[in-house]
Amino acid sequence: MDTAVLTDNDAQRAVSDTTPVVPSTADPLWWRSAIIYQIYIRSFADGNGDGTGDLAGVRAHLAYLADLGVDALWFTPWYPSPLADGGYDVSDYRAIHPAFGDLGQAEVLIREALALGIRTIIDIVPNHISDQHEWFQAALAAGPGSPERERFWFRPGLGDNGDEMPNHWVSNFQGDTWTRTTNPDGTPGEWYLHLFTPEQPDLNWNHPDVRREHEEVLRFWFDRGVAGVRIDSAALLIKDPTLPEVPENPLPGEHPNTDRDEVHDVYRAWRAIADSYQGARVLVGEVWMPDAARFANYLRPDEMHTAFNFDFMARPWNAAELRESVDSMLAAHAPVDAPSTWVLSNHDVTRPVTRYGREDSSFAFATKRFNVPTDLELGERRARAAALLTAALPGSLYLYQGDELGLPEVEDIPRDLLQDPMHFRSGGVDPGRDGCRVPLPWSGSTTPFGFSPAGSTATPWLPQPASWAHLTVESQLLDPHSMLSLYRAALSIRRSHPALGDGSLTWIESEPNVLAFDRGMGFVCVTNLSDSAVALPTFTKLLLASSPLADGLLLPDSTAWLRTQH
Ligand code: NOJ
Repeated sequence: MDTAVLTDNDAQRAVSDTTPVVPSTADPLWWRSAIIYQIYIRSFADGNGDGTGDLAGVRAHLAYLADLGVDALWFTPWYPSPLADGGYDVSDYRAIHPAFGDLGQAEVLIREALALGIRTIIDIVPNHISDQHEWFQAALAAGPGSPERERFWFRPGLGDNGDEMPNHWVSNFQGDTWTRTTNPDGTPGEWYLHLFTPEQPDLNWNHPDVRREHEEVLRFWFDRGVAGVRIDSAALLIKDPTLPEVPENPLPGEHPNTDRDEVHDVYRAWRAIADSYQGARVLVGEVWMPDAARFANYLRPDEMHTAFNFDFMARPWNAAELRESVDSMLAAHAPVDAPSTWVLSNHDVTRPVTRYGREDSSFAFATKRFNVPTDLELGERRARAAALLTAALPGSLYLYQGDELGLPEVEDIPRDLLQDPMHFRSGGVDPGRDGCRVPLPWSGSTTPFGFSPAGSTATPWLPQPASWAHLTVESQLLDPHSMLSLYRAALSIRRSHPALGDGSLTWIESEPNVLAFDRGMGFVCVTNLSDSAVALPTFTKLLLASSPLADGLLLPDSTAWLRTQH
């Protein structure tokens, strides 16, 4: 695999000067059916040989992504950051982390990708910033009562000495949500709110500077040709300014820091900005929300275009569960006429091959533990079936880097190399998210498996298992039965078949623990989640299957795509 690095000059030659920076206007509804590949940039490909992925590495592999058949790339945060939370602690929204490259390279990458028909979506992190961001540093320096502190949630502590936290909100990352500051004279000072780590102070979205700044940041990146933004922690921005305790059973809209009604004004303003640009710039929300109606509120026609559907990913490998998830998600989206998204994993959750190989194949952050018995062969079979199942469902599709290679979760990273605050803030009980963030294997038989350029002596920032030799892109391209070959075939069919992507489905009556549905135009998808082989409906051609049929029957933990008479 060629990991040669393109220089900016090469790239500029490759993409003529006349290449527009504007995503094509040809298909204003591209996002309703898009296949979006998530790049966790630290771990995708290392172009400069320092053991960390970077923009040069991505540029060197754009042809791979085009051949895979993706429509867009979503980059997890690529900005300058102390990386206290993998880049979700942004210290400058208008630049690129020096370890990843620079702004000029990002602009070239956006152009090069577009020239291959691939749009770029970037991550926007509006709920919090890095404690190293100039605003927060200025707020610390300016002291209590200053206008600089108004952009955050600084409060005196409770109790006689002010040494009790202002409230007892719970962190998504466990641990406290308030940290006490120290005054310039060394005495204990005010506290500040952080729903995640102390290095990620929450912004005060009632402050006009905060709103203006983010609107300008959106324009900054839209001007550079990005086709959309993924909005981090999108439901958390607005807080009840009185900062009350969370009621035991909050009614919709009553929670003091989640899904407050006023948050929708933010996204209406953002949508107006997106709509003022050519070429359908999209807003994609990270909205963890069990209440389907409240979730759909984010997708009203003047708000976000789509939001991640995490429900499907959280369900166990069980036909009734998955069918209920599909039905409830499609029903939730219908009233606002938004397409659902289908997401099997991302940089936060246990890889599908591992998850589906466990007795409890559901996913929840609260139950992640070390040393859970896992049957990786079973997990891989199911992950293949799940890949075809999700790619056939109506809506857009997200693919997290490395899932197309069937990478398992890496669960034996030495503890002193773990980086994720979720691990540390759980007191070491939660393994954290490093295991799904290990650098990709591209080629060769020993680490770094082509992740870094030939001859580089740096080791990947997280160690790759030696067993990944058989999971490299290079070896999987040679194997027609590999996970990569399956994904390439599936995405190619999905791109060309008029029934796939946006639309609707009709369930077909099937045996217990089997999911079968018709997408119209002679396309049927059948997934067997039962323990025995099952008969397929009448078909004229087997388009693709996640495992070979046995005497015409679909084996357990398998999916088949069929052409039928219509
Ligand atoms: C969601 C992101 O996906 C996750 O990686 C991050 O830690 C939190 N938001 C906080 O920004």
